[in-house]
Formats: sequence, C-alpha cells, structure tokens
Amino acid sequence: MTWNVLIVDDEEQLCKLIARKLKKAGVGTVIAQNGQAALKAISETTIDVVILDYMLPDMTGIEVLRAIKEEKDIPVIMLTSYANVESAVLAMKIGAADYLNKPIELEELKNIVVKVCQQPRGEDDGLSGNQGLVCESEKMKKVLELVRRVKDTEASMLILGESGVGKTALAKWIHENSVRKQKPFVAINCAAIPETLLESELFGFRKGSFTGATASQKGKFLAADGGTVFLDEIGELSLSMQVKLLHVIEEKKIMQIGSNEYHSLDVRIIAATNKSLKKLVEGQKFREDLYYRLNLMEIEIPPLRDRKGDISPLVWHHMEKLNDKYKKELMIHPKVVQRLSAHNWPGNIRELLNTVERLHILKRMGTIELADLEETSTDERLSSVDGNMPFDNKQWTASDNLSQALEEVEEQMIKKALTETNDNQTKAAEKLGIARHTLIYKMKKIGMKP
Ligand SMILES: Nc1ncnc2c1ncn2[C@@H]1O[C@H](COP(=O)(O)OP(=O)(O)OP(=O)(O)O)[C@@H](O)[C@H]1O
Ligand SMILES: [Mg+2]
Repeated sequence: MTWNVLIVDDEEQLCKLIARKLKKAGVGTVIAQNGQAALKAISETTIDVVILDYMLPDMTGIEVLRAIKEEKDIPVIMLTSYANVESAVLAMKIGAADYLNKPIELEELKNIVVKVCQQPRGEDDGLSGNQGLVCESEKMKKVLELVRRVKDTEASMLILGESGVGKTALAKWIHENSVRKQKPFVAINCAAIPETLLESELFGFRKGSFTGATASQKGKFLAADGGTVFLDEIGELSLSMQVKLLHVIEEKKIMQIGSNEYHSLDVRIIAATNKSLKKLVEGQKFREDLYYRLNLMEIEIPPLRDRKGDISPLVWHHMEKLNDKYKKELMIHPKVVQRLSAHNWPGNIRELLNTVERLHILKRMGTIELADLEETSTDERLSSVDGNMPFDNKQWTASDNLSQALEEVEEQMIKKALTETNDNQTKAAEKLGIARHTLIYKMKKIGMKP
C-alpha cells in the first residue's frame, strides 16, 4: 500500500524538495500552498499524513490543524520556527502528531512521516474505557482528554502534581495506551539512585570501562528502546546529568560509558516531579533548555482535595480490588464513603487507598461502618462526627479561591443535610432551602449518586 502525504507550505520550492524526498521513499504526495487548498485536498482525496507549515498566507497553521482535526483523524506534522515554542505547544495540544523546527532536515522529516504512516490508527483500539484509571471528576476528565490527544505523539511529557496524586499511574497508563505499548516501559527514580551510579544505570557501560565493570550492561535507556522511559522525580537530577539527558533527547542517540560509538535510540520520555521545576529553573538548579524540552507537554494532576468527585469512585474501585486480593466479600457503608469524600487527603490518592485498605484488613466480614472508621482512624477530622465540616473549624482567608471555598462549603452542607435526614432528598433539600432537583443536580456535580 502506498501512502499519500499532503504537503502544505507557501514556499513552492520547499514543497517540491519535500515531495522529491518522500517520493524516493515510495510515498505519494499532494501539494497545497495555502490553507483553503489544503482543506479542499483533504475533503477530495485520501490523505494519510499532512505536513503543515505554521505560517500560511490565508490562515494560520493552527486554524488549518483545527479544521482538519474536526473533520478527520489524520496525523499532522507541524513545521514551526524555533522562535515560536508556544505555537508548537498549542499544535500538540490540538492533536498534531509531531512537530519539526524550521529549517527542517529532509531526512528527519522523511523518517517521521514513515513512522507516523506505520502507526496503527482509527478506532482508538478499545481504549475508550480508562483501564483501571479512575477519572470521574470534571478536572480529571479534562486531564485525561488532553492526555488522550497527545498520547501517541513523540513529544516528551512532564507530569506535575503533589505526592500521591497518581503521576506514576498516569505515566504507565499513557504508555499502555500508546502506540509503544508492545515495547518496554522503564521507570527510573532519579532521587533513589546515587549520582555516581546514575550515569551507568541510564546509559549502560562496556565491560572493563571502569574498575568493577566486569560485564557490559545495556543501561535503562537502551533497555527501553522503542518504548517509554519514565524519569520520576526529575527535579532531583544533578546539573551534569541534565546536560547528558538533554543531549540524549535532542540527538536521539546514546553512547555507553567506555564506548566510542553512538547507538541510535527511540524512546518517548515522560518525566514527573512534585516540585515546581519553574522555581528550580529560576534558582538555576534546573536547566532552562531541558525544562522547555520536557514541558512541551505539561500535564498537571490536581490534588485530590480539588476533585473530590473522584473519591467515591476510587473507594468503590479499590474495594473491589481488595475483595479480590484478600478473598473477602466486604461492603462499605455509603456514610463511610461520604465521610471519606469530605476529607482533604493531604497524601492524596495514596493516603486514601491506604486508609481503605487498613479498614478492609481489619474487617473480617460484612460492611465497613462509620464506627470502624472512627475506631481505626488516627486523623480526628476523619474519626469525629463533625470533623468533616470545614466551615466549622476552618479559617478562611482572603487568599483562598472564593468559588472553590464556596463549592467546598456547599458540598459539606449537602452531605450534612443528607446524613441528618437519612438520605431523604426531599427533606434534605428542604433543610437546605433549595429545590429537590437543584439538590440532585448539585449531588451529581460533586460525584454523589442521587
Ligand atoms: N486515577 C487513579 N485510579 C486508580 N488508582 C490510582 C489513580 N491514580 C493513582 N492511583 C493509585 O494511587 C496510588 C498512588 O499513585 P502514584 O504512585 O501514581 O502517585 P505519584 O503521584 O506517582 O506519587 P509520588 O509523588 O509519591 O511518586 C497508587 O497505588 C496508584 O495505583
Ligand atoms: Mg510516583
């Protein structure tokens, strides 16, 4: 089968050069010199890949990209200029498959085109479910929507978020749902490996290259070839390792310690940190160029307290897993779930799941009740009846986000009203002075099942 590539650029000479290069690789080409012509070509011919310039006479490349993505799921490779990092970021967010900085290397462009052509596409191969990743709150849905759009691109990614919010879980999910899923996912915790060992761990070494190197070792990067390298706690990387990493990302090749030849390397890098890399850059602890390389696709996972709608689905999901693991058939009382949902979880999902597991282990059979929670919890806000009422004991300050604070108070009041009326929605609505349908709407919004 031959592929058909649409080249969109107002520079006729460049279009021809690209076309000639692609023809040699057995790829068919169509040329368009403005946005309208490009869209016409797409509606009239079968196009497998689009190469799209950012600056066109009649429309911007971004507009054309949007129009293409609305119509068809055709991969688009953007040509941008070095000076315009934002446009590259935007293009990737809209769903460009990759981007190249001008002036382009024809060989590199050809390689990318061939690769993109070969990637399986279409019906998202059964990935419409979230495969174990709970994501019910609007905030997490937005995160996942962005991730879905960019999961198959080649761009490095940076996942930000507090400890325990699910950075590692998301990185794995991205790999397992990407075109690289058949290849290895290799995780490296940059904080756990001593600086002196990190280089050999990552890049590998040849036998005899230093004292103690009694056998060659491949290194994590080469072990992940074709797959994904997950660099956890990237903020801990020393400046000298940062230089080496940047080199690997930019050159896509690697030299083992004690070797003098390069191996070409095809890995997608996903980095994660719970620190503010921006601040580290400002304090000159993190290289700005590496930061820009990594944060081209920046994904921030909000803390659990800002997406409480995820708490109850997480609890139910985890209960099922624990029942399997411990071969029990325990239930959990909705009131317990409510209490857990009202808590702020400074340790995020990890802390929530640990709490549920502790309750599960201590209960032999039947249903986990509020009394069980009150008995086992060391956190008084979880174990006391009124402990979950932030408007009773929380001092709001003017710097709190007002709408967020109001939402939190609203959620607490709704939960309290429901508890006090034994989940009688009519009475709870009356207590709150709102219509029943308003209550139901609000309950849905905060992730409660009315
Ligand atoms: N969306 C989710 N659905 C179900 N389980 C999740 C989800 N996100 C995270 N988890 C689970 O929560 C726990 C903590 O998540 P994870 O280890 O990914 O957090 P992290 O942000 O990487 O933490 P750290 O900063 O400490 O590395 C793990 O057991 C993980 O499987
Ligand atoms: Mg982690």
